[in-house]
Amino acid sequence: MIRNERPVRLGLNIDHVATLRNARGTTRPDPIRAAKLAIEAGADGVTAHLREDRRHIRDEDIHRIMLEVAAPLNMEMAATEEMTDIAVRVRPHACCIVPERREEITTEGGLDAAGGHNALAPMVRRLLDAGIRVSLFIDPEPRQIDAACRLQAPVVELHTGQYCEEWLAGDAAAAQREFERLASAARLAAEAGIEVHAGHGLDYETATHLASLPQVRELNIGHFIIGEAVFVGLGPAIARMHEAIAKGVALRKQV
Ligand code: PXP
Repeated sequence: MIRNERPVRLGLNIDHVATLRNARGTTRPDPIRAAKLAIEAGADGVTAHLREDRRHIRDEDIHRIMLEVAAPLNMEMAATEEMTDIAVRVRPHACCIVPERREEITTEGGLDAAGGHNALAPMVRRLLDAGIRVSLFIDPEPRQIDAACRLQAPVVELHTGQYCEEWLAGDAAAAQREFERLASAARLAAEAGIEVHAGHGLDYETATHLASLPQVRELNIGHFIIGEAVFVGLGPAIARMHEAIAKGVALRKQV
């Protein structure tokens, strides 16, 4: 996502707006309207996960984002031939490859880039050859960073789900341990020349913490912001998230 010079870009994940729409089987609320509003309110890009089962975002939504939204699209996708074909046709700014299991409620755990190297390599290559920026959604583990290097992925998105769960549960020691894993994975990736993004389960507080890591360049956030929008509106929720991120960036200078 290359919209401006913010030290940490904010990508809004609109999947949950599509979930709400699909719950009634109508056209409202329109996730593309949410995407446009988010960009007007200062989000730097839009993230949408085209799942194999199309449970929230649909093919038509991806086409509409590309046509109607004046900001980069980060398309989340499983590592399948079908999704790679779609991505190569649609040409979003970026594709974030995520693991996908049909029975899961949301993306659980990171992609096993190390174990799945041989299957991933041709898909990553096809996406890169199509001019798409490839990001791998991985757990903060050295072997996964190493695999991302071997796959020549320009970006990794570190899975913050476990950290956010532990923080929310008030388990300070476990949260600290997981934060240190994220911090050292971010360092390792940046040293290898890989751009570092992070996401999953972030709220205002945990976004501040992640933004305090000097290597982090982008946060992708959905559920919390869409939830907050119910109470304060989407624009104000995005503005407050930018403030939370700026607070984290300011902490970098103090380290
Ligand atoms: N990044 C990735 C790769 C994801 O799969 C998700 C969830 O769809 C998110 C970020 C956003 O997570 P959340 O909705 O919990 O903010």
